[in-house]
Amino acid sequence: MSKMVKLCSVDDVETDLPFPVEVDGYPPMAVYLIDGAFHVTSNTCTHGNAMLTDGFQEGDTIECPFHGGSFCIKTGAAKNLPCEEPLAVYKVQVDEGQVFVVV
Ligand code: FES
Repeated sequence: MSKMVKLCSVDDVETDLPFPVEVDGYPPMAVYLIDGAFHVTSNTCTHGNAMLTDGFQEGDTIECPFHGGSFCIKTGAAKNLPCEEPLAVYKVQVDEGQVFVVV
């Protein structure tokens, strides 16, 4: 059975500025705003222990701050080495000004 987990307010997230979220019982997540739509991925790089929200977002790409690897925010696919493993992506729902993931 799926469940909605509240992450943050829509006002917390700015375009091209990934927002880190920690919710008890879940891995760290990153919330992104791209072309008016919210996206959520795991916030931990699959190559090492870097927080992607410390990296650089350009459009739908997030670049890791450690070794320059990158991922597609929308699909989680690795785009540049040394990243090869995809990122977890979450289904997002916005309700009454709050951003949720469906888990
Ligand atoms: Fe992210 Fe190495 S830890 S590219």
